[in-house]
Amino acid sequence: MNLAREIKKDIYWIGVNDRRTHIFENYWPLPKGVAYNSYIIVDEKVVVIDTIERSKMDDYVENIEQLLNGRKVDYLVINHMEPDHTGAIKALLCHYPDVKIIGNAKTFPMLKNFYGVCENLMEVKEGDSLDLGKHKLNFYMAPMLHWPETMVTFESTEGILFSGDIFGAFGTLDGGIFDDEVDLDYLEEEISRYYSNIVGKYGQPAQTALKKLGGLPIKMVCATHGPIRRSHIADIVAKYDKWSKYDTDKGVVIVFSSMYGNTEKMADIIARFLAEKGIKKIRIHDASKTHPSYIINDIFRYKGVILGSCAYNGNAFPTMETLLFELEHMGVKNHVVAFFGGKAWAGGAMPRFNQFAEKIKWEVVAPSCEACGCPKDEDFETCRNIAYAMADKLDEIC
Ligand code: FEO
Repeated sequence: MNLAREIKKDIYWIGVNDRRTHIFENYWPLPKGVAYNSYIIVDEKVVVIDTIERSKMDDYVENIEQLLNGRKVDYLVINHMEPDHTGAIKALLCHYPDVKIIGNAKTFPMLKNFYGVCENLMEVKEGDSLDLGKHKLNFYMAPMLHWPETMVTFESTEGILFSGDIFGAFGTLDGGIFDDEVDLDYLEEEISRYYSNIVGKYGQPAQTALKKLGGLPIKMVCATHGPIRRSHIADIVAKYDKWSKYDTDKGVVIVFSSMYGNTEKMADIIARFLAEKGIKKIRIHDASKTHPSYIINDIFRYKGVILGSCAYNGNAFPTMETLLFELEHMGVKNHVVAFFGGKAWAGGAMPRFNQFAEKIKWEVVAPSCEACGCPKDEDFETCRNIAYAMADKLDEIC
């Protein structure tokens, strides 16, 4: 049975599910898997829009052959060069060597460097169009979402936006492929974790793209990952707008790295004081246990961040250091922060925290608390100050 599915007359989803890969891009956990969505329009001309990751390329090409029943593919549109969408290009070209490859000026050097492909290229620029017969494609650039060559393709007859990674999600498509056929609640965290970790560094390019695409009469959004949007387009657009503006809710994410439990104890004390002050949305993460992608996802949700680390050879603990690096690298904006932790003799985490706050430009709401050995009464008082100052600040700005 061919799992291809018609999404509008003569337009098909020809994607695949990946439940085998544990970590996407060899870094991001995939507890619910991921789908690589590809699409084909069968008109007077046949066009494939984005391919899939290479592990299932045999099935993929077989599906296309069955669907086309002897016809050839005329065009391949590459909206995005990352190998999870270009891994099957060489297999496609083996079967259909005359395919004309559509991309932009930044696509083709990558195509050559990744796959050695440099023939039959058709370069498009902002607003260019291509007639397929009944269907017409328009191309719009979306640089840095999340690679420089990224573009999107709008099919104007049916109003379908082929959006590449934009509006994508982790999680396989288990049966249904449309947003009104799947359990969006089940996928909610995978939708936001995909944005925050894959696209989240590029808030400004996302804002630019939203403004540009906002003028198009879009009736369906076909991303390269996650469910196709036809009933809840406004919902995902609103979420992207909020996330890309770094607009967060009232709440606090506490993250700790603790070798012997003392820093963890301080995390619990601070959380209790926050609750005393009426903060309900408190999330505590152990950085040694929880992958940074989940922590970063919560930081994209909540305004307040309180970070704690034991000292480790004159620095922050390695698992906290990883998180700090990630946050600095992503340039996450618009948070307020405070710090705590512990030391056995000279310390080390607090200077690193101060350096972090300066680099990321988050406002520090209270002096840090660094306990020596087990936290004592005076340390708990400083923890209270941190929690109360954070709660007061959130009351003021959220
Ligand atoms: Fe889904 Fe950026 O590749």
